[in-house]
Parts: sequence; C-alpha cells; structure tokens
Amino acid sequence: MCGIIGYIGPREATPLLIEGLRRMEYRGYDSAGVALWDGEAIEVRRAAGKIAKLEAAIAADPVDGMVGIGHTRWATHGAPNERNAHPHLSADGSVAVVHNGIIENASVLRGALQDLGYVFRSDTDTEVIAHLVQELFDGSLEEAVIHALRKIEGTYGIAVISSRDPGKIVAARKGSPLLIGVGNGENFLASDASAILAHTRQVVYLDDGDVAVIERDSYRVIDLNAMPLPRDVDRIDWDLAEIERGGYAHFMLKEIFEQPQSVENTMRGRLMLEDGTAKLGGLNLSHEDLLRIDNIIITACGTSWHSALIGELLIEELARIPVEVEYASEFRYRNPIVTERTLCIVMSQSGETADTLAAMREAKRRGARTLGLVNVVGSTIAREDDGGVYLHAGPEIGVASTKAFTSQVVALALFTLKLARKRDLSVVRGREIAQALHALPAQIQEVLDRAPAVEAIAERFKDATNFLYLGRGFNFPAALEGALKLKEISYIHAEGYPAAEMKHGPIALIDEHMPVVFIAPHDAVFDKIVSNIQEVKARSGTTIVITSRDEPALRGLIDHEIRIPETLDMLMPILASVPLQLLAYYIAVKRGAHVDQPRNLAKSVTVE
Ligand code: M6R
Repeated sequence: MCGIIGYIGPREATPLLIEGLRRMEYRGYDSAGVALWDGEAIEVRRAAGKIAKLEAAIAADPVDGMVGIGHTRWATHGAPNERNAHPHLSADGSVAVVHNGIIENASVLRGALQDLGYVFRSDTDTEVIAHLVQELFDGSLEEAVIHALRKIEGTYGIAVISSRDPGKIVAARKGSPLLIGVGNGENFLASDASAILAHTRQVVYLDDGDVAVIERDSYRVIDLNAMPLPRDVDRIDWDLAEIERGGYAHFMLKEIFEQPQSVENTMRGRLMLEDGTAKLGGLNLSHEDLLRIDNIIITACGTSWHSALIGELLIEELARIPVEVEYASEFRYRNPIVTERTLCIVMSQSGETADTLAAMREAKRRGARTLGLVNVVGSTIAREDDGGVYLHAGPEIGVASTKAFTSQVVALALFTLKLARKRDLSVVRGREIAQALHALPAQIQEVLDRAPAVEAIAERFKDATNFLYLGRGFNFPAALEGALKLKEISYIHAEGYPAAEMKHGPIALIDEHMPVVFIAPHDAVFDKIVSNIQEVKARSGTTIVITSRDEPALRGLIDHEIRIPETLDMLMPILASVPLQLLAYYIAVKRGAHVDQPRNLAKSVTVE
C-alpha cells in the first residue's frame, strides 16, 4: 500500500527519499514521486510505474534540497498515472502534500474549492488537502494543516511542506501509520520503519489524532487543538540485513527458508516443555480472566484469516471454548454477539490492516477483551489491543505471507496450550503438544531440504490454468492457504475446499487438465481423504499428494508425491503449508511473475 518518507537535515534529501521509497517498494505501488524545497520553491518530480522511472525523471531534470517528502502510491481515486501520483501541489505551488488513506468528503471539498476558483489537476482526493492548506495558510504551516484536517472526513497519514514556512515537515495521522525517525541533527518521517532504519533506530510512533511538526534539530507532537502531546521514543531492534534479500532470488524465497528460525523465535522463552504449557508475557489476562472466557471470536483477513481457522480448531479441540472466525471486513458491518466474557483475538502480520483494526475497535466498543497476534512491533493493532502476543517472525517483505502464517499458527497453538492447561487439559497431553511444537523447526528444515522435488513438480504444472487444493480437518485451512498463495503470485486460478465437499460441485471441473493438490498426511481423517483421492483419479484428474508415510492405500493414486514428516494432527498444517508455499513460488518464478510484488496487491492494506 502507499508509502510515505520525509527528510529534513543537512544532507541532500533526494537520494535519501529515493532510498526510503525503495525500501517500501514491497508494500505495493503503481507510481511514485518526491517534492523538495530547493531554497526558493517547491519542486516536484513524479512518475507512473516503478521507482526507476522516477529516478529517470529526476536524472532528466535534477532536483535537490534539504527538506523533502516522497511517496509511493497504490491507486484508489484515479488511474495510476503521473498526474495522479503524489506529491500534489496547491494551486500556487506553495504547498506539497503526500497522503495515505481516503478522504471521504473529497468531492464536497473539491466543489467548495472550485467555487473559490481552485483548478484541480488530478483525479485524486489528496489534491483537496493541498488547496485547503493553501487557502487556510496564515503564517504557520501546522496551523493551516490543523484547520484543513478539521474539515476533512476519512483516513489519512499525511506529510506537508510549504515554501511559505519552509523549515519543517508537518505530518498528521488518522488511521494510516506514520512514525518519526529521530536522528542526530536531522529527522525523518516514514509510514514504515524499514524506510529509515539505515539512518536511525530511534522512532516515535504517531497515534491517531497526532500532528507532528518536524524540524532539523527537533520535533514536537501536538493534537488537533495544537496542544502538546507526550510521545515516547522507541527503539527498533531488528537489523537492516533482515529486510535485505541476503543472496536469495526473492524475499518470498528467503522468508520461506527462514521458517525454521522464525518458528523457533515465536516459541523462544515461551514454551514450557516440563509443564506442558506456554508462558506469554503480554497477554494481560489473569488466571481468572482465562477462566471467565465464554466464547472467542477470531477476526482477520487473507492469510491471517486462514491461520484463524486453524486457531478455531485448536481452541475448540483443546480448550473446549466455542470459537467463531470472522472476516474482519464483515464483522464490523453486522451485529455480532459479543459480551464482556468474549475474547476477540485479532490476527494480523502487519498490525495495520484497516478492516482488522476496525473490527478490533468494534469488538472493544461492544465490551470484548482484545488480544492481538501481530508481527510488526509498534503497529497500531499491537498498540491498541488489550493484550498481545508478538509473532517475532522478523520483517516479512514479500507481499505473499509465508513465515508470518506459520508463526501465527504456532502463536495460536501456544495461546491454546496456555488456555487449555488453565482449564481441562492434562499435563501429559500438554507435554505431548509442547514436545511436538519443539520439534517443528527441525521438521520444517526437513521439508525445505526437499525443495528441489517441489521445484520439479512446479516445472510440470507451470502452464496449468486451474488448480484445486483439498484437505480435511486441520488441513482444510492449509488447502485454502495453498490456493491463495498460488493465485496471488502466479495468477493461476486456484480454489481450496474441504476434500469431501468436492463431490458437491467442484468435482464437475475434474478432467485430465485439472491438477488437484491433496493434503493427506497420516492423520485421523486419512482413510476419508483416500476416498476423495480415488474420486479424482476415477475422473482422470492429476494428483499431487502431500503425505507423511508410504501408505499402501495411496499406491496407484499419486501422480506426484511430496513427503512431509509426521507430527500431531493439529500441527500438520504448519508442515504442509511449507511445500505449498514452495510450489506457488516455483510456479510463479517459472511463469516469469513478479513474485515479491504481485500485480494489484499491497503488503499492508490500510484502506477499507
Ligand atoms: O497484515 P495482515 O495479516 O493483516 O494482512 C492480511 C492480508 O491482507 C494478507 O494476509 C494477504 O492476504 C496476503 N497477501 C496473503 O499472502
């Protein structure tokens, strides 16, 4: 999704802005631009397409200065072309604005500004901010921005510079993340910590309603009444190397191969092997609170929603508490049954997904306790939830979520273990689960060691136009996730189904051109899924079977086999999802797709 970067200090800003924009490329974008105060006026350079195009535009018409803002845009209002790219200038060129989010009353404001004689040069909602700030300017940029924001309805993360008050960047946040990077004699602004990490680890996360006035040697945060707000400086504790590819062809591949470590990190210091439970410091739920939970709602989007489905099965199986899994986008627009004894678990890699955040706020408003299972430290969900479990999977840059998914399932298993042991789960069973979790990193490595076999299967199916993914029980969500991975990065149509559901419709699709991926480890429903594989073979379908043993029942039914180690049924989707990630990855690469930044997708979806 859109990215914002800002710089003010003694250095030439252009290369710093471009570097910051590059670091945020993974978020997904379709145009980019920068605006700089060059000592006399504000100069803007923009380009549709990738940042290389912006660099070419700057090379053709160089621009520099020591105060600047930059943006990568993911189109919402208006086509992804140069005139709609940010920054947007006010009518007299004195104000430049970059904006993430959506101004809901943009057309009303646009009409009012047109009545005052303002001529619009883009189709964006953002341009109204630039003209409004010009119109309301009376000597102080922050005051003009505050006045403009009072007229705006919607969501925003903005950065504004002005030639009439040039020694500062004014930023504001409502619903779209922003942070200040605190440097030495220089300061930064960014929507994503990765953009500034090369220059500082000291950051101030802005909250909704905050306005930041950032100057070269200082910064202050004020509210919409210009009253000062205290804000802590946080330290980012991950390294630049973690957001670099480190020899891998793509971030996605790197992140798939990092899973032995990322899963280990999710469990580090938390798994209590002897007691058969987990220690989770940030829960903020006492023993009594855990016993008081009547029902659990898990809300999420996309891949996080798939991990939530596994969470539902885990919690109901072990802790015997009713669980509902809700699409965050639907939850907030219906009338869900939430009481003060409801626990709402919020799953999000980024911690910034707009629908998930809104669902969490709605659950809170209705009296539920909220628990965020989030990867990005300091993200909005992590700061607003009542308690949380960080995934500690490390930065996930590839748009297709991989290591965050496996860490989400592990975090859910840890939480379930703790909850279930407080209720009815015996220590013996708890130990068995804890031991199985403990074994996962080495088992994931075993699966990764078989990547060449998966690549060979990918070669065979790279030109397929459709895929079916089928699984039962704990592996049904893994089938959904496998299908999502394939469609989002290779653009091949893929569907996930519970295997037995196939005969209620999808079976009509099966012929010799339809590859069907079965997740069929030796588990409680193995015999059942064998029947489903037979149904596919009987109709000339081609089977790719992920299984855990040389099963006589499968002989003659498997066209392509991927072997995974055995674990408890409930943890099997973690191991099964790894070859599914690899299959999607290799197929996408062989089709020449842009794996890390698939078309139309954004890493963190901060608009509704
Ligand atoms: O950051 P979140 O986990 O809240 O993101 C939710 C979805 O947007 C995300 O999982 C999306 O489906 C990914 N592209 C999946 O690979």
